[in-house]
Amino acid sequence: MNRRQFLQASVAASTLPSMTACGDGVTITIDTRLPVGPFGADSTAEEVTAGLDLNGKTVLITGCNSGVGYESMRVLALRGAHVIGTGRTLEKAQKACDSVVGHTTPVVLELSDFQSAVDCAASVAAMGVSIDSLILNAGIGSFAEFELINGIERIFVINYLGHVVLTQKLLPLLRATGGSRIVHVGSQQAYRAAPEVGIDFDNLRGEGEYSGSLAYGRSKLANALYSLKLSEMLDPLQITSNVVHPGFVKTNIGRSASGIIKWLYQGAQSMIAKTPEQGAATQVYVATAPALAGVTGAYFEDCNPVTIEGDNHVFDKELADRLWDETRRILGDYLES
Ligand SMILES: NC(=O)c1ccc[n+]([C@@H]2O[C@H](COP(=O)([O-])OP(=O)(O)OC[C@H]3O[C@@H](n4cnc5c(N)ncnc54)[C@H](OP(=O)(O)O)[C@@H]3O)[C@@H](O)[C@H]2O)c1
Repeated sequence: MNRRQFLQASVAASTLPSMTACGDGVTITIDTRLPVGPFGADSTAEEVTAGLDLNGKTVLITGCNSGVGYESMRVLALRGAHVIGTGRTLEKAQKACDSVVGHTTPVVLELSDFQSAVDCAASVAAMGVSIDSLILNAGIGSFAEFELINGIERIFVINYLGHVVLTQKLLPLLRATGGSRIVHVGSQQAYRAAPEVGIDFDNLRGEGEYSGSLAYGRSKLANALYSLKLSEMLDPLQITSNVVHPGFVKTNIGRSASGIIKWLYQGAQSMIAKTPEQGAATQVYVATAPALAGVTGAYFEDCNPVTIEGDNHVFDKELADRLWDETRRILGDYLES
């Protein structure tokens, strides 16, 4: 096992679900300053939405064909929402949409292609809908080989930058609703596996040594910081922005691992991971729970807002400002109308 594979195996082993956890010098505690619900790590998406009538609501979820995205779409449609589900091809999204009960509409979104994000937002706007909840769920794990896309490291492009383009283009449809929500699907790796400086801006083009684990942690920290920045830029009466960790969930996220790493990861999934039904709960709860109206800039694990004490950058406003400046510089024309 080489050094990179060892790092990946360590991350696979350390990705444990936790509610009040202490590890890597970080302590996670439920944030009682915000509404705390009756749900926890074992709750399912069906349970957290029981009794909720989402008829008349429109939810857009990215990555609807697999894992927690698929389960989120299934449950939101079951509760009456019109779910617009994205897939990397229309066929994938269509197949997923056709397999659930309720009102769903497939659209294409390839996050590694910023023009695809622009086109996706345009096709949603052409539907004449407004959006009540936007769940930025799609993503890739840490096992992929290093690759640059338009000169930027691939995991950062797919998990973060592509979603920024989509979100900025959809803001008018979110504003049209009033009281709408953006839910960023982040990860504990934002504070367990990000580079020490948080976002190492001088390494986005792969100048330094590559670690898939650090790249994944960095992309998930970027999700959290973008959520924080949006919560400052947007009026919470109009649009809220929060980030969630779904837990360690048995999905296809480790698909690009190979050999012993894949074996170890799948073994850990079989033994300790949440089911997709449980993994979808936090994002579906944050996207819909009436108790969370107006709550913005928060970070959720196991269906509740949490604080993170110890060395981390998840609530670092200065870093969020710097990331936003850099993001605008990278995305340039894609953010213009
Ligand atoms: N599972 C976990 O333990 C865990 C832990 C923490 C955070 N998360 C986060 O949870 C989210 C959902 O992951 P999951 O576990 O449900 O994984 P998954 O089963 O692999 O689903 C990922 C989804 O993202 C889509 N996707 C991947 N690359 C894309 C791209 N370039 N453009 C557009 N869509 C793309 C996939 O489409 P294809 O099927 O076509 O590739 C799929 O629909 C991710 O953001 C992940 O980082 C997961």
